[in-house]
Amino acid sequence: MSSPSTSSTPVTPFSTVIRTASHEAHTEAETSTFMSDLLGGKLGVEAYTRYTEQLWFVYRALEDGAEALRDDPVAGPFIQPELMRTAELERDLAHLHGGAEDWRADLQPLPATRAYAGRVAECARSWPGGFVAHHYTRYLGDLSGGQIIRDKAERTWGFARKGDGVRFYVFEGIGNPAAFKRGYRELLDGVPVDELEKMRIVDECKRAFALNTAVFRALGDEFPLSA
Ligand code: HEM
Repeated sequence: MSSPSTSSTPVTPFSTVIRTASHEAHTEAETSTFMSDLLGGKLGVEAYTRYTEQLWFVYRALEDGAEALRDDPVAGPFIQPELMRTAELERDLAHLHGGAEDWRADLQPLPATRAYAGRVAECARSWPGGFVAHHYTRYLGDLSGGQIIRDKAERTWGFARKGDGVRFYVFEGIGNPAAFKRGYRELLDGVPVDELEKMRIVDECKRAFALNTAVFRALGDEFPLSA
């Protein structure tokens, strides 16, 4: 029989730690004025387009950065082809720009987006644990709340169901998102780093949420509701 000291408190799985730690930041992002106005049907498709453009800059940083991390013991297992979003974003953006081939021509990220994408690229270059934090914040969110956003976008701006304009939210290669998310959480639980590094990853995850919130704030300034 084990003594009280060895019968120990159960260790909280890392996937639960990271989820719990980012809960407050999630609520802040989810209820930001821009998101609420956008999903409340109060903004035009230009606002949705501008938001999708910002995502394109962020996912390029994530997915360009992923290439070099494929064989990394910490970040490598998270990099899975069925998650990749850049091609879907490009298809959505071509559609949102009226089918124009040259939609990239004058596209500039907002300063907040530049900062977000820059931080993602920096983690991809020099800190695999930090990259995992950004990977989790984006892809697990897209697989979860992203589906709510897709549904609202289809209804508000009349995109074909799961068609051009909302392909970003459609993961063709993931038949069972709930099972995929379970597998993803198992990867998080088994991430081969020590406790201190796990704490740093949690902090980076909070930073990732804050970077998202800053983008929403900037978009909110660009698309204020006419009173
Ligand atoms: C209006 C916008 C949003 C809505 C409606 C929304 C909604 C949701 C919902 C319903 C879940 C599932 C929670 C569960 O499994 O119990 C979720 C999870 C998640 N969301 Fe969001 N979300 C939004 C915005 C965001 C943003 C901006 C981010 C960060 C970029 C984000 C990141 C996440 C993450 C990482 C998870 C997974 C949590 C986990 O299970 O570990 N979400 N979201």
